[in-house]
Amino acid sequence: MEFSVLVVDDEKNIREGLGKALELDGYTILLAADGKKALEIINTTDVDLVIADLKMPGLSGQELLKQVSSAYPTVPVIILTGHGTIETAVEAMRDGAFDFLTKPVNLDRLSLLVKRALSNRKLVLEHRALKEEVAKIEQKQKFANIIGKSPQMKKVLEVIEQVAPTRASVLITGESGVGKELVADAIHNLSDRKERPFIKVHCAALTETLLESELFGHEKGSFTGAVATKRGRFELANSGSIFLDEIGEVNQAVQIKILRVLQEKKFERVGGEETLEVDVRIVSATNRDLKKDIQEGRFREDLFYRLNVVNVNVPPLRERKEDIALLAAAFLKEFSEENGKEIVGIDPKAKTALYNYSWPGNIRELRNCIESAVVLAKGNVITPMDLPPSVANESEGDYIKISVGITLAEAEKEIIRGTLNYAKGNKSKAAEVLGIGRKTLHRKIQEYNLVEE
Ligand SMILES: Nc1ncnc2c1ncn2[C@@H]1O[C@H](COP(=O)(O)OP(=O)(O)OP(=O)(O)O)[C@@H](O)[C@H]1O
Ligand SMILES: [Mg+2]
Repeated sequence: MEFSVLVVDDEKNIREGLGKALELDGYTILLAADGKKALEIINTTDVDLVIADLKMPGLSGQELLKQVSSAYPTVPVIILTGHGTIETAVEAMRDGAFDFLTKPVNLDRLSLLVKRALSNRKLVLEHRALKEEVAKIEQKQKFANIIGKSPQMKKVLEVIEQVAPTRASVLITGESGVGKELVADAIHNLSDRKERPFIKVHCAALTETLLESELFGHEKGSFTGAVATKRGRFELANSGSIFLDEIGEVNQAVQIKILRVLQEKKFERVGGEETLEVDVRIVSATNRDLKKDIQEGRFREDLFYRLNVVNVNVPPLRERKEDIALLAAAFLKEFSEENGKEIVGIDPKAKTALYNYSWPGNIRELRNCIESAVVLAKGNVITPMDLPPSVANESEGDYIKISVGITLAEAEKEIIRGTLNYAKGNKSKAAEVLGIGRKTLHRKIQEYNLVEE
């Protein structure tokens, strides 16, 4: 990404001097002698960063800052001030300046500050693009909030769209937290039964006897506590759909009754004589290996085939890592709004951590992670410090992120830092891994200010 930097100063020497210096850093430089000219440029060209003197004839730096931050809030502005005008600088910060530098400008500091401002802008733009993508996806599938662009998720969505309008039973499989319930919702909402009842039963949450009466209802007096006749979930779901979550936890007696509903659409209430008939579409889900349960005699094979007319397998998050950034952006938006915080993005280190983590709890875990990060975040960007230690650390040990755009010295520092982490602080071991002497390592640790992390 090539950045363009606009330098605004009424003093020609300063303007051109700063421009030359920044040009060496590889930026495209635009120059303006006053605020009014600067605005003309900003309104007609893509400008990524503005560096503006505070005191200028005509439109002052202050005024320029105000106009830029309201019209182009993602364009950072760095303010230059003369000596003794710190108060105005503080005011500028309040008006939305990214930072300020006092004159005479230290070019090294300027260069660093510009780099920081631009990487911040890059992050904001990236996050905005992701948010737009999320919005597009949400709009495209008004039926469900299933977010994902990986080939695996596209496949899942395709199957959902295909199978939803039919009456076929669907078994949704996948690890805990992958989104099985969302898939079930989508199937019902995309079917022509969407205006009819959609009844959900969490089969593992009920004891065996309770589950039977919950599903099929009971007659008054059929067991202690059955003080009145009660209709079951299958009756309530009549003409609609039923979602049997954790179907693998259902006992043999109930398995037989469900099988009969699937085969004949018929059942009796617990303790009842009358045979009832229902028209219910059955969607079920499990994170168990039902094939194994069949082999071991815990689950009926005939029921399995009736439930599993169509299988939707939702892959774990670690197998579709390209969805992580998109999901994180969606959750960030959701929880920023909920918590009234304006978080503009996730910094590159935190992003790498999210990417490298294996997410055993899948999307539920990612969602919780982003929620707590939003709550904990002190700034307007999520950093590794805001992430749970398990997430923040996993990426550290074996990985070192070195991207184009950093100096050789910075790269060396990263390598040493990563290796020290990997060696858990053991300097002899780190030196050995790095193939240098202990003394050299010590010197470099001092040089790079690598205190124990
Ligand atoms: N593709 C997705 N897009 C957006 N949110 C998702 C997605 N998948 C899952 N979620 C969210 O993650 C959480 C867990 O999803 P869900 O309850 O559907 O998982 P599950 O597979 O049923 O898990 P379990 O086996 O533990 O019941 C929910 O808050 C859900 O909204
Ligand atoms: Mg579930």
